[in-house]
Amino acid sequence: MSGSISPLKSVASHPLSGSIAVPGDKSISHRAIILGSLTIGQSVVSHLLESTDVLDTVKAMVALGAEISRSNDGEYIINGVGVGGLAEPDNVIDCGNSGTSVRLIMGAIATSSINVTFTGDVSLRNRPMSRVLKPLSLFGASYISRSEGRLPITIKGSSEPMPIVYKLPVASAQVKSAVLLAALNTPGITTIIEEQATRDHTERMLKLFGAKVTSKITEFGNEISVTGFPELRRTNITIPSDPSSAAFPLCAAIMVEGSDIVVPNVCQNPTRNELFSVLIRMGADLTFENKRQQSGEDIADVRARYSPALSGIEISGHRAPSMIDEYPILAMVASVAKGKTTMKGIAELRHKESDRIQAINEGLTAAGVKLEVGKSSLTVYGSGNGFVEGGNLVKVYNDHRIAMSFACLGLVSKSAITIDDSSIIDTSFPNFIAMMRGAGATLQSL
Ligand code: S3P
Repeated sequence: MSGSISPLKSVASHPLSGSIAVPGDKSISHRAIILGSLTIGQSVVSHLLESTDVLDTVKAMVALGAEISRSNDGEYIINGVGVGGLAEPDNVIDCGNSGTSVRLIMGAIATSSINVTFTGDVSLRNRPMSRVLKPLSLFGASYISRSEGRLPITIKGSSEPMPIVYKLPVASAQVKSAVLLAALNTPGITTIIEEQATRDHTERMLKLFGAKVTSKITEFGNEISVTGFPELRRTNITIPSDPSSAAFPLCAAIMVEGSDIVVPNVCQNPTRNELFSVLIRMGADLTFENKRQQSGEDIADVRARYSPALSGIEISGHRAPSMIDEYPILAMVASVAKGKTTMKGIAELRHKESDRIQAINEGLTAAGVKLEVGKSSLTVYGSGNGFVEGGNLVKVYNDHRIAMSFACLGLVSKSAITIDDSSIIDTSFPNFIAMMRGAGATLQSL
Protein backbone atom coordinates (compact mmCIF):
# COMPACT_ATOMS: atom_id res chain seq x y z
CA MET A 1 0.00 0.00 0.00
CA SER A 2 1.15 3.54 -0.66
CA GLY A 3 0.95 6.45 1.82
CA SER A 4 -2.01 8.09 3.49
CA ILE A 5 -5.33 8.60 1.73
CA SER A 6 -5.42 11.73 -0.45
CA PRO A 7 -8.58 12.74 -2.31
CA LEU A 8 -8.16 14.60 -5.60
CA LYS A 9 -10.60 16.94 -7.35
CA SER A 10 -10.46 17.14 -11.13
CA VAL A 11 -11.98 20.19 -12.79
CA ALA A 12 -12.78 21.15 -16.42
CA SER A 13 -9.43 22.14 -17.79
CA HIS A 14 -7.55 24.53 -20.07
CA PRO A 15 -5.91 22.87 -23.09
CA LEU A 16 -3.08 20.45 -22.32
CA SER A 17 0.18 21.17 -24.08
CA GLY A 18 3.88 20.37 -24.21
CA SER A 19 6.12 17.34 -24.12
CA ILE A 20 5.15 14.97 -21.33
CA ALA A 21 7.75 12.52 -20.00
CA VAL A 22 6.12 9.29 -18.87
CA PRO A 23 8.06 6.87 -16.63
CA GLY A 24 9.51 3.52 -17.69
CA ASP A 25 7.27 0.63 -18.62
CA LYS A 26 6.05 -1.28 -15.57
CA SER A 27 6.07 -4.76 -17.12
CA ILE A 28 9.53 -4.33 -18.62
CA SER A 29 10.89 -2.81 -15.39
CA HIS A 30 9.82 -5.86 -13.33
CA ARG A 31 11.37 -8.21 -15.88
CA ALA A 32 14.66 -6.28 -16.07
CA ILE A 33 15.07 -6.53 -12.29
CA ILE A 34 14.21 -10.23 -12.20
CA LEU A 35 16.36 -11.28 -15.17
CA GLY A 36 19.27 -9.09 -14.02
CA SER A 37 19.04 -10.90 -10.67
CA LEU A 38 19.25 -14.28 -12.43
CA THR A 39 22.41 -13.29 -14.32
CA ILE A 40 25.98 -13.59 -13.11
CA GLY A 41 27.79 -10.27 -13.52
CA GLN A 42 26.65 -6.69 -13.48
CA SER A 43 23.66 -5.39 -15.45
CA VAL A 44 22.62 -1.74 -15.49
CA VAL A 45 18.98 -0.80 -15.93
CA SER A 46 18.15 2.78 -16.95
CA HIS A 47 14.79 4.59 -16.92
CA LEU A 48 13.43 2.02 -14.50
CA LEU A 49 9.95 2.83 -13.25
CA GLU A 50 10.51 3.81 -9.61
CA SER A 51 6.96 3.08 -8.46
CA THR A 52 5.95 1.11 -5.39
CA ASP A 53 5.11 -1.97 -7.52
CA VAL A 54 8.54 -2.15 -9.13
CA LEU A 55 10.33 -1.29 -5.89
CA ASP A 56 8.50 -4.24 -4.32
CA THR A 57 10.12 -6.44 -6.98
CA VAL A 58 13.52 -4.89 -6.21
CA LYS A 59 13.06 -5.63 -2.47
CA ALA A 60 11.95 -9.18 -3.21
CA MET A 61 14.95 -9.95 -5.44
CA VAL A 62 17.30 -8.51 -2.80
CA ALA A 63 15.62 -10.76 -0.21
CA LEU A 64 16.31 -13.68 -2.56
CA GLY A 65 20.03 -12.86 -2.71
CA ALA A 66 20.59 -10.37 -5.57
CA GLU A 67 22.61 -7.20 -5.00
CA ILE A 68 20.73 -4.20 -6.35
CA SER A 69 21.67 -0.56 -5.83
CA ARG A 70 20.32 2.74 -7.13
CA SER A 71 23.04 4.73 -8.88
CA ASN A 72 20.96 7.62 -10.21
CA ASP A 73 17.34 8.61 -10.92
CA GLY A 74 15.85 5.50 -12.52
CA GLU A 75 19.26 3.83 -12.83
CA TYR A 76 19.89 0.57 -10.99
CA ILE A 77 22.96 -1.66 -10.86
CA ILE A 78 22.24 -5.36 -10.43
CA ASN A 79 24.71 -8.06 -9.48
CA GLY A 80 22.80 -11.26 -10.00
CA VAL A 81 23.11 -14.72 -8.50
CA GLY A 82 22.75 -16.74 -11.72
CA VAL A 83 20.03 -19.21 -12.74
CA GLY A 84 19.50 -21.60 -9.81
CA GLY A 85 21.31 -19.26 -7.40
CA LEU A 86 18.36 -17.77 -5.52
CA ALA A 87 18.58 -18.10 -1.72
CA GLU A 88 15.76 -18.69 0.76
CA PRO A 89 14.68 -15.32 2.21
CA ASP A 90 14.57 -14.97 5.98
CA ASN A 91 11.16 -13.32 6.01
CA VAL A 92 7.84 -13.18 4.17
CA ILE A 93 7.98 -11.44 0.77
CA ASP A 94 5.37 -8.67 0.68
CA CYS A 95 4.50 -7.72 -2.90
CA GLY A 96 2.17 -4.87 -1.89
CA ASN A 97 -0.36 -4.15 -4.68
CA SER A 98 1.69 -5.83 -7.40
CA GLY A 99 0.30 -8.88 -9.19
CA THR A 100 3.24 -8.88 -11.60
CA SER A 101 5.79 -9.05 -8.75
CA VAL A 102 4.14 -11.93 -6.96
CA ARG A 103 3.25 -14.03 -10.00
CA LEU A 104 6.59 -13.67 -11.77
CA ILE A 105 8.68 -14.19 -8.65
CA MET A 106 6.66 -17.28 -7.68
CA GLY A 107 7.70 -18.64 -11.07
CA ALA A 108 11.33 -17.65 -10.58
CA ILE A 109 11.61 -19.53 -7.25
CA ALA A 110 9.39 -22.55 -8.02
CA THR A 111 12.18 -24.66 -9.47
CA SER A 112 14.78 -23.94 -6.76
CA SER A 113 14.99 -25.99 -3.63
CA ILE A 114 13.86 -23.17 -1.31
CA ASN A 115 10.67 -22.32 0.59
CA VAL A 116 9.24 -18.84 0.16
CA THR A 117 6.15 -17.22 1.68
CA PHE A 118 4.43 -14.41 -0.24
CA THR A 119 1.79 -11.90 0.75
CA GLY A 120 0.41 -8.54 -0.43
CA ASP A 121 -2.05 -5.74 0.29
CA VAL A 122 -5.80 -6.21 0.64
CA SER A 123 -6.34 -6.01 -3.14
CA LEU A 124 -3.59 -8.51 -3.97
CA ARG A 125 -4.67 -10.92 -1.24
CA ASN A 126 -8.01 -11.23 -3.00
CA ARG A 127 -6.69 -11.83 -6.51
CA PRO A 128 -6.58 -15.32 -8.05
CA MET A 129 -3.23 -17.09 -7.77
CA SER A 130 -4.33 -20.63 -8.69
CA ARG A 131 -3.72 -19.75 -12.32
CA VAL A 132 0.02 -19.60 -11.49
CA LEU A 133 0.13 -22.27 -8.79
CA LYS A 134 -1.32 -24.90 -11.12
CA PRO A 135 1.46 -24.87 -13.76
CA LEU A 136 4.13 -24.42 -11.08
CA SER A 137 2.89 -27.64 -9.41
CA LEU A 138 3.41 -29.45 -12.72
CA PHE A 139 7.12 -28.56 -12.48
CA GLY A 140 7.10 -30.33 -9.08
CA ALA A 141 6.65 -27.35 -6.73
CA SER A 142 4.16 -27.62 -3.87
CA TYR A 143 2.35 -24.90 -1.93
CA ILE A 144 -0.08 -24.03 0.78
CA SER A 145 -2.40 -21.06 0.38
CA ARG A 146 -5.53 -19.54 1.86
CA SER A 147 -8.78 -20.84 0.37
CA GLU A 148 -9.22 -20.48 -3.40
CA GLY A 149 -5.47 -20.14 -3.90
CA ARG A 150 -5.30 -16.70 -2.31
CA LEU A 151 -2.32 -15.08 -0.59
CA PRO A 152 -0.55 -15.52 1.78
CA ILE A 153 1.01 -18.52 0.02
CA THR A 154 4.07 -20.58 0.86
CA ILE A 155 5.76 -22.30 -2.07
CA LYS A 156 8.14 -25.19 -1.62
CA GLY A 157 10.29 -25.06 -4.74
CA SER A 158 10.99 -28.29 -6.56
CA SER A 159 14.43 -29.87 -6.04
CA GLU A 160 14.05 -32.01 -9.17
CA PRO A 161 11.97 -29.94 -11.59
CA MET A 162 10.57 -31.48 -14.77
CA PRO A 163 9.92 -29.54 -17.98
CA ILE A 164 6.27 -29.10 -18.93
CA VAL A 165 4.05 -28.47 -21.92
CA TYR A 166 1.35 -26.07 -20.79
CA LYS A 167 -1.62 -24.54 -22.57
CA LEU A 168 -2.63 -21.31 -20.86
CA PRO A 169 -6.29 -21.55 -19.74
CA VAL A 170 -6.46 -17.72 -19.42
CA ALA A 171 -4.75 -15.15 -21.63
CA SER A 172 -2.26 -13.90 -19.05
CA ALA A 173 1.29 -12.66 -19.60
CA GLN A 174 1.92 -13.00 -15.89
CA VAL A 175 1.14 -16.73 -15.94
CA LYS A 176 3.13 -17.22 -19.15
CA SER A 177 6.08 -15.37 -17.62
CA ALA A 178 5.90 -17.37 -14.38
CA VAL A 179 6.19 -20.56 -16.44
CA LEU A 180 9.06 -19.17 -18.55
CA LEU A 181 10.97 -18.14 -15.42
CA ALA A 182 10.37 -21.52 -13.75
CA ALA A 183 11.65 -23.19 -16.92
CA LEU A 184 15.04 -21.48 -16.60
CA ASN A 185 16.11 -23.71 -13.72
CA THR A 186 14.59 -26.86 -15.25
CA PRO A 187 16.42 -29.30 -17.51
CA GLY A 188 15.12 -29.72 -21.07
CA ILE A 189 12.61 -27.71 -23.03
CA THR A 190 9.43 -26.21 -21.56
CA THR A 191 6.66 -25.24 -23.97
CA ILE A 192 3.74 -22.86 -23.47
CA ILE A 193 0.79 -22.50 -25.80
CA GLU A 194 -1.31 -19.35 -25.73
CA GLU A 195 -4.48 -18.98 -27.82
CA GLN A 196 -4.41 -15.18 -27.73
CA ALA A 197 -1.11 -13.31 -27.91
CA THR A 198 -0.23 -11.64 -24.60
CA ARG A 199 2.60 -9.19 -23.96
CA ASP A 200 5.88 -10.80 -24.94
CA HIS A 201 8.42 -8.75 -22.97
CA THR A 202 9.73 -11.80 -21.08
CA GLU A 203 10.47 -13.67 -24.31
CA ARG A 204 12.17 -10.62 -25.85
CA MET A 205 14.25 -9.92 -22.77
CA LEU A 206 15.24 -13.56 -22.29
CA LYS A 207 16.62 -13.51 -25.83
CA LEU A 208 18.51 -10.30 -25.07
CA PHE A 209 20.08 -12.00 -22.04
CA GLY A 210 21.13 -14.95 -24.24
CA ALA A 211 18.52 -17.62 -23.40
CA LYS A 212 17.26 -19.93 -26.12
CA VAL A 213 13.62 -18.99 -26.70
CA THR A 214 11.63 -19.82 -29.81
CA SER A 215 8.11 -18.77 -30.79
CA LYS A 216 5.96 -20.10 -33.60
CA ILE A 217 2.33 -19.78 -34.60
CA THR A 218 0.49 -23.11 -34.81
CA GLU A 219 -3.16 -24.08 -35.25
CA PHE A 220 -3.48 -23.94 -31.43
CA GLY A 221 -2.04 -20.44 -31.10
CA ASN A 222 1.39 -19.09 -30.13
CA GLU A 223 3.80 -21.83 -29.09
CA ILE A 224 6.74 -20.58 -27.04
CA SER A 225 9.62 -22.85 -25.99
CA VAL A 226 12.51 -22.15 -23.67
CA THR A 227 15.56 -24.32 -23.02
CA GLY A 228 16.56 -24.75 -19.37
CA PHE A 229 19.86 -23.90 -17.67
CA PRO A 230 20.89 -21.01 -19.94
CA GLU A 231 23.92 -18.97 -19.00
CA LEU A 232 22.31 -15.57 -18.93
CA ARG A 233 24.79 -12.86 -19.91
CA ARG A 234 24.99 -9.46 -18.23
CA THR A 235 22.94 -6.95 -20.21
CA ASN A 236 22.33 -3.21 -19.94
CA ILE A 237 18.76 -2.19 -20.58
CA THR A 238 17.05 1.14 -21.17
CA ILE A 239 13.35 0.83 -20.39
CA PRO A 240 10.98 2.52 -22.87
CA SER A 241 8.14 4.71 -21.58
CA ASP A 242 5.03 2.84 -20.53
CA PRO A 243 2.22 2.88 -23.13
CA SER A 244 -0.30 2.09 -20.38
CA SER A 245 0.79 5.21 -18.46
CA ALA A 246 1.11 7.31 -21.63
CA ALA A 247 -2.53 6.41 -22.32
CA PHE A 248 -3.73 8.81 -19.59
CA PRO A 249 -2.23 12.11 -20.85
CA LEU A 250 -2.81 11.04 -24.48
CA CYS A 251 -6.51 10.31 -23.91
CA ALA A 252 -6.89 13.47 -21.81
CA ALA A 253 -5.42 15.49 -24.70
CA ILE A 254 -7.81 13.85 -27.15
CA MET A 255 -10.76 14.86 -24.93
CA VAL A 256 -9.77 18.37 -23.73
CA GLU A 257 -10.52 21.12 -26.26
CA GLY A 258 -7.46 22.78 -27.80
CA SER A 259 -4.90 20.25 -26.49
CA ASP A 260 -1.74 19.20 -28.32
CA ILE A 261 0.85 17.06 -26.51
CA VAL A 262 3.74 14.72 -27.29
CA VAL A 263 4.82 11.77 -25.15
CA PRO A 264 8.34 10.70 -26.19
CA ASN A 265 9.84 7.16 -26.29
CA VAL A 266 6.60 5.22 -25.86
CA CYS A 267 6.85 1.44 -26.21
CA GLN A 268 5.12 0.34 -29.43
CA ASN A 269 5.30 -3.41 -28.88
CA PRO A 270 2.42 -4.89 -30.94
CA THR A 271 1.24 -6.88 -27.90
CA ARG A 272 0.67 -3.55 -26.10
CA ASN A 273 -0.53 -1.07 -28.71
CA GLU A 274 -4.15 -1.97 -29.44
CA LEU A 275 -5.52 1.09 -27.61
CA PHE A 276 -3.86 3.35 -30.17
CA SER A 277 -5.53 1.49 -33.07
CA VAL A 278 -8.91 1.63 -31.31
CA LEU A 279 -8.61 5.36 -30.64
CA ILE A 280 -7.72 6.03 -34.27
CA ARG A 281 -10.77 4.00 -35.35
CA MET A 282 -12.86 6.23 -33.05
CA GLY A 283 -11.52 9.33 -34.81
CA ALA A 284 -8.65 10.37 -32.52
CA ASP A 285 -5.85 12.52 -33.91
CA LEU A 286 -2.81 10.45 -32.92
CA THR A 287 0.50 10.38 -34.78
CA PHE A 288 3.67 8.38 -34.27
CA GLU A 289 6.98 10.09 -34.93
CA ASN A 290 10.65 9.11 -34.74
CA LYS A 291 10.00 5.33 -34.76
CA ARG A 292 13.03 3.33 -33.61
CA GLN A 293 14.26 0.35 -31.52
CA GLN A 294 15.63 0.32 -27.98
CA SER A 295 16.69 -2.68 -25.85
CA GLY A 296 14.73 -5.11 -28.03
CA GLU A 297 11.51 -3.04 -28.10
CA ASP A 298 9.98 -0.72 -30.75
CA ILE A 299 9.43 2.84 -29.56
CA ALA A 300 8.06 6.12 -30.97
CA ASP A 301 7.12 9.64 -29.89
CA VAL A 302 3.33 9.79 -29.76
CA ARG A 303 1.49 13.06 -30.46
CA ALA A 304 -2.16 13.54 -29.46
CA ARG A 305 -4.34 16.47 -30.45
CA TYR A 306 -7.85 17.39 -29.37
CA SER A 307 -10.23 15.27 -31.41
CA PRO A 308 -13.74 16.76 -31.52
CA ALA A 309 -15.34 14.12 -33.77
CA LEU A 310 -14.92 10.96 -31.68
CA SER A 311 -17.49 8.24 -32.35
CA GLY A 312 -18.36 5.03 -30.58
CA ILE A 313 -17.34 1.67 -32.08
CA GLU A 314 -17.61 -2.04 -31.34
CA ILE A 315 -14.40 -3.64 -30.05
CA SER A 316 -14.20 -7.43 -30.28
CA GLY A 317 -12.20 -9.30 -27.65
CA HIS A 318 -9.68 -10.95 -29.93
CA ARG A 319 -6.96 -8.37 -29.19
CA ALA A 320 -8.12 -7.67 -25.61
CA PRO A 321 -4.80 -8.77 -24.02
CA SER A 322 -2.99 -6.13 -26.10
CA MET A 323 -4.92 -3.34 -24.37
CA ILE A 324 -6.00 -5.10 -21.19
CA ASP A 325 -4.89 -2.28 -18.85
CA GLU A 326 -6.31 0.47 -21.05
CA TYR A 327 -10.05 -0.33 -20.88
CA PRO A 328 -10.72 2.04 -17.94
CA ILE A 329 -9.32 5.10 -19.77
CA LEU A 330 -10.96 3.95 -23.02
CA ALA A 331 -14.32 3.87 -21.21
CA MET A 332 -13.75 7.53 -20.25
CA VAL A 333 -13.08 8.49 -23.88
CA ALA A 334 -16.16 6.49 -24.94
CA SER A 335 -18.32 8.44 -22.49
CA VAL A 336 -17.77 11.72 -24.40
CA ALA A 337 -17.81 10.20 -27.91
CA LYS A 338 -20.86 10.15 -30.16
CA GLY A 339 -22.89 6.94 -30.00
CA LYS A 340 -22.23 3.70 -28.20
CA THR A 341 -18.94 1.89 -27.66
CA THR A 342 -19.14 -1.82 -26.91
CA MET A 343 -16.16 -3.66 -25.46
CA LYS A 344 -16.38 -7.45 -25.65
CA GLY A 345 -14.30 -10.32 -24.24
CA ILE A 346 -13.11 -8.38 -21.19
CA ALA A 347 -13.93 -10.82 -18.35
CA GLU A 348 -10.29 -10.60 -17.17
CA LEU A 349 -11.00 -7.01 -16.07
CA ARG A 350 -12.86 -8.48 -13.12
CA HIS A 351 -9.56 -9.90 -11.76
CA LYS A 352 -7.35 -6.82 -11.85
CA GLU A 353 -6.42 -4.55 -8.93
CA SER A 354 -10.20 -4.12 -8.61
CA ASP A 355 -13.20 -5.51 -10.48
CA ARG A 356 -12.68 -2.88 -13.16
CA ILE A 357 -15.99 -3.47 -14.97
CA GLN A 358 -17.84 -2.76 -11.75
CA ALA A 359 -15.62 0.20 -10.77
CA ILE A 360 -16.02 1.82 -14.22
CA ASN A 361 -19.78 1.24 -14.15
CA GLU A 362 -20.16 2.72 -10.68
CA GLY A 363 -18.05 5.84 -11.37
CA LEU A 364 -19.46 6.58 -14.82
CA THR A 365 -23.09 6.00 -13.79
CA ALA A 366 -22.65 8.51 -10.95
CA ALA A 367 -21.14 10.95 -13.48
CA GLY A 368 -24.37 10.75 -15.50
CA VAL A 369 -23.25 8.29 -18.19
CA LYS A 370 -25.52 5.46 -19.37
CA LEU A 371 -23.89 2.00 -19.50
CA GLU A 372 -24.84 -1.63 -20.00
CA VAL A 373 -22.80 -4.20 -18.16
CA GLY A 374 -22.44 -7.88 -19.02
CA LYS A 375 -20.33 -10.57 -17.37
CA SER A 376 -17.56 -10.01 -19.90
CA SER A 377 -18.65 -6.91 -21.77
CA LEU A 378 -19.34 -3.25 -21.31
CA THR A 379 -21.31 -0.79 -23.43
CA VAL A 380 -20.88 2.94 -22.88
CA TYR A 381 -23.36 5.42 -24.37
CA GLY A 382 -21.36 8.54 -25.13
CA SER A 383 -22.72 12.08 -24.63
CA GLY A 384 -21.51 13.12 -28.08
CA ASN A 385 -20.89 16.68 -26.88
CA GLY A 386 -17.40 16.17 -25.43
CA PHE A 387 -18.54 16.42 -21.79
CA VAL A 388 -20.03 14.33 -18.98
CA GLU A 389 -22.16 15.76 -16.17
CA GLY A 390 -19.77 14.78 -13.34
CA GLY A 391 -20.25 16.21 -9.85
CA ASN A 392 -19.61 12.82 -8.22
CA LEU A 393 -17.19 11.20 -5.78
CA VAL A 394 -15.50 8.11 -7.26
CA LYS A 395 -14.41 5.19 -5.15
CA VAL A 396 -11.18 3.88 -6.70
CA TYR A 397 -10.99 0.54 -4.82
CA ASN A 398 -7.19 0.56 -4.38
CA ASP A 399 -6.80 0.66 -8.15
CA HIS A 400 -4.32 3.09 -9.72
CA ARG A 401 -5.83 2.89 -13.20
CA ILE A 402 -9.37 3.60 -11.99
CA ALA A 403 -7.97 6.61 -10.09
CA MET A 404 -6.09 8.03 -13.10
CA SER A 405 -8.98 7.37 -15.49
CA PHE A 406 -11.50 9.38 -13.47
CA ALA A 407 -8.90 12.10 -12.80
CA CYS A 408 -8.72 12.48 -16.62
CA LEU A 409 -12.52 12.41 -17.02
CA GLY A 410 -12.89 15.27 -14.53
CA LEU A 411 -11.06 17.48 -17.04
CA VAL A 412 -14.10 17.24 -19.34
CA SER A 413 -16.89 17.21 -16.76
CA LYS A 414 -19.47 19.99 -16.29
CA SER A 415 -19.10 19.67 -12.49
CA ALA A 416 -15.87 18.49 -10.85
CA ILE A 417 -15.16 14.78 -10.30
CA THR A 418 -13.42 13.85 -7.05
CA ILE A 419 -11.56 10.58 -6.55
CA ASP A 420 -11.53 9.30 -2.99
CA ASP A 421 -7.82 8.33 -2.98
CA SER A 422 -5.05 9.34 -5.35
CA SER A 423 -2.20 7.86 -3.27
CA ILE A 424 -2.61 4.46 -4.98
CA ILE A 425 -1.40 6.09 -8.25
CA ASP A 426 2.15 5.75 -6.85
CA THR A 427 2.03 2.03 -7.61
CA SER A 428 2.58 2.73 -11.33
CA PHE A 429 2.94 6.45 -12.05
CA PRO A 430 4.36 8.40 -9.08
CA ASN A 431 4.64 11.68 -11.01
CA PHE A 432 1.18 11.58 -12.60
CA ILE A 433 -0.47 14.50 -10.79
CA ALA A 434 2.52 16.87 -11.11
CA MET A 435 2.99 15.93 -14.75
CA MET A 436 -0.67 16.50 -15.64
CA ARG A 437 -0.66 19.83 -13.78
CA GLY A 438 2.51 20.82 -15.67
CA ALA A 439 0.67 20.18 -18.94
CA GLY A 440 -2.22 22.42 -17.85
CA ALA A 441 -4.66 20.12 -16.04
CA THR A 442 -6.61 21.43 -13.05
CA LEU A 443 -6.17 18.77 -10.37
CA GLN A 444 -6.71 19.95 -6.80
CA SER A 445 -5.47 17.94 -3.81
CA LEU A 446 -8.04 18.07 -1.00
C1 S3P B 1 1.18 -7.81 -16.87
C2 S3P B 1 0.21 -8.56 -17.45
C3 S3P B 1 -1.23 -8.24 -17.39
C4 S3P B 1 -1.45 -6.78 -17.01
C5 S3P B 1 -0.60 -6.36 -15.84
C6 S3P B 1 0.88 -6.53 -16.17
C7 S3P B 1 2.59 -8.24 -16.95
O1 S3P B 1 -1.83 -9.04 -16.39
O2 S3P B 1 -2.81 -6.56 -16.72
O3 S3P B 1 -0.83 -5.01 -15.50
O4 S3P B 1 3.49 -7.43 -16.66
O5 S3P B 1 2.81 -9.39 -17.34
P1 S3P B 1 -2.39 -10.54 -16.70
O6 S3P B 1 -1.24 -11.42 -16.91
O7 S3P B 1 -3.18 -10.89 -15.47
O8 S3P B 1 -3.26 -10.39 -17.91
